[in-house]
Amino acid sequence: MTAAPPETAWIPRHHDRRAEAQVREWLAVRTGIAAAELPLVRDAQDRPQLVGALQGHDINWSHSGDGLLLAYGSGVALGVDLELPHGRRRVAEIARRYFTVREQAWLEAQADAGTREYAFHRLWCAKEAVLKAHGRGLSFGLDRLHFAEVDGMLRLDHADPELGDTASWQLREWSPAPGYLAALAWRAG
Ligand SMILES: CC(C)(COP(=O)(O)OP(=O)(O)OC[C@H]1O[C@@H](n2cnc3c(N)ncnc32)[C@H](O)[C@@H]1OP(=O)(O)O)[C@@H](O)C(=O)NCCC(=O)NCCS
Repeated sequence: MTAAPPETAWIPRHHDRRAEAQVREWLAVRTGIAAAELPLVRDAQDRPQLVGALQGHDINWSHSGDGLLLAYGSGVALGVDLELPHGRRRVAEIARRYFTVREQAWLEAQADAGTREYAFHRLWCAKEAVLKAHGRGLSFGLDRLHFAEVDGMLRLDHADPELGDTASWQLREWSPAPGYLAALAWRAG
């Protein structure tokens, strides 16, 4: 049986509180377990993990600007990334450093600087979402996975064997609030 797609929630970020406290409040309502008692721990890479009564579920979140985006699912490993693009001028330089050669070529082929910057952020979100689902985050290496655009959607095309079968990964890209970009990556796990 295929696992249900993870659910996501957009929460206004309270800058005077830890994001995890806000996530715990959301999860408490969702699960009926008191916020302070939720079996939410961190692994050695600081990745949030659900254990105990919530074993078999996964949660991940990302914060940017005034937004906090969380994703929660059962029977999956998931990662989510939220970006608030704001006129990054060094897109080409960063892409040369962190993206694959074919991804750089895709960016260069964009019609103008605006669409190039937008495409850059889409790629960044997609890669970070997969790497957060995998668990080692950016330290794994952004160039060890390659996304290609197929029918207007980014698809994981090639990846280091450590990330498993590329076809097992699913990606959702969307704008959860005006000006924000997000990507959610998941696979059965
Ligand atoms: C995890 C990472 C991708 C976050 O990137 P970011 O763009 O700064 O932040 P985001 O808002 O998207 O995500 C932050 C959330 O990711 C989660 N996170 C932290 N480490 C993670 C990991 N290894 N894998 C998946 N998710 C992780 C946390 O919930 C964190 O929220 P918090 O700030 O409330 O603790 C980045 O910090 C990274 O790659 N770190 C490498 C892992 C590492 O070196 N860890 C240090 C060992 S202690």
